Amino acid sequence: MSTTPEPHEASELSPATVVVSAGRPARVQGGHINPSVPMNSTYVSQGVVTSGELSYARGDNDAWHPFEEALATLECGGGEPGEALVFSSGMAAIAAVFALVPDGGTIVLPRHAYQAGMVLAGQIRDRHGVTLRHVDIADTDAVVAALDGADLLLAESPTNPMLEVADLPAVLGAARARGVRSVVDNTFATPLGQRPLEHGADIVLHSVTKYLAGHSDVVLGALVTRDAELSATLREHRTLHGAIAGPFEVWLALRGLRTLALRFERAQANAAELARRLADHPDVAEVRHPSLPGDPGHERATAQMNGFGAIIGVRPAERSGVGRRRAGGRRRGRRAAVAPRDVAGRCGVHAGAPPPLGHRSRDGAGGPAAPVGRHRGRRGPLAGPGPGPPRLTPWLWARPLRPRVRYRRNRRAHNQGGSVEGAQEGLGHRAVG
Ligand SMILES: Cc1ncc(COP(=O)(O)O)c(C=O)c1O
Repeated sequence: MSTTPEPHEASELSPATVVVSAGRPARVQGGHINPSVPMNSTYVSQGVVTSGELSYARGDNDAWHPFEEALATLECGGGEPGEALVFSSGMAAIAAVFALVPDGGTIVLPRHAYQAGMVLAGQIRDRHGVTLRHVDIADTDAVVAALDGADLLLAESPTNPMLEVADLPAVLGAARARGVRSVVDNTFATPLGQRPLEHGADIVLHSVTKYLAGHSDVVLGALVTRDAELSATLREHRTLHGAIAGPFEVWLALRGLRTLALRFERAQANAAELARRLADHPDVAEVRHPSLPGDPGHERATAQMNGFGAIIGVRPAERSGVGRRRAGGRRRGRRAAVAPRDVAGRCGVHAGAPPPLGHRSRDGAGGPAAPVGRHRGRRGPLAGPGPGPPRLTPWLWARPLRPRVRYRRNRRAHNQGGSVEGAQEGLGHRAVG
């Protein structure tokens, strides 16, 4: 029985419908409702392999097609159809887009972005003489000024972990006008939150590991583009580098995708409520979440996103003692990106799991999101006895901090112009992921 899905066409269906319906096998009586998991390294051939024919499972694999079909439909919406390519991880997808840049070329990228991507960019700079122009992605003038003579703009919006929001139509339009290829890492927003191709991106990138797969059981990545030539180049990179996904992982990702709309809606509601409560908390110096009316990214996110995502940036107040006990009193007020556990599929920084949804809130208001309180008998991040604002416990805040040795190593490397892991801009940010 073939697992090949119906070809994807421009879809006017709502994304919530697309996630449950796209990538299914053709509807024939007695047929499968789900794609199966074809386990093959090689396909039968009549002789000379013709273009588009399956032959060897590293080059193309029908196990990938249903998920690729669904993701392309989601990212392209009702517009011109495009093509999705699944990769072995989000990092493999990032490596594929960096490989588009020629030796000696120039990449414009956010000063704060997913840390491993930044480390890889640093290695490419050192090995291939590529110039990196780090910009504040929320500063449109700075981004546009950096585009002259560049080869690639890698945008992330909202960024991991600082939650900065780029003016996507403006920066992507400027990149296009200058002939600079643009990529948007859409991991944090998901195609339900924004569709960067509609704003002019050439490529959309995902760590499928996070929201799309959504169950903390696979590591996968993906790229989506409407440019057939670009797609062929990226596909060739995937084949030659062997950055390919296993059939079962992709099947799991598609199964996870089926519930994306429900998960993302609830995760966003929880995050907005958590951000609102943290913003009022005496032990918190700063909260970044675009849902907050005073957040620098609020207006932009309202204009270009559907929702605000479910990752929150938090800087504890110095007086909170958070991190001080662990770090001998020297490390204070560092930022951490937090997310309700499992909403992004995997959280590098656990803010402690919110109670099961529907749990009564501290103020007894109930409502859709009630993350404050006791959870599974363990003291959660915001748990505290009695009324009044709950105290932040070191239990939560100690976890995002890296062991001191690793921190120092990263700081040293950063100061020497090398790795920026955990030490971007000297602030010691800790990203989710
Ligand atoms: C925004 C973002 N992009 C890319 C990646 C890399 O994805 P993966 O872990 O699937 O390789 C991550 C991982 O956390 C991420 O958060």
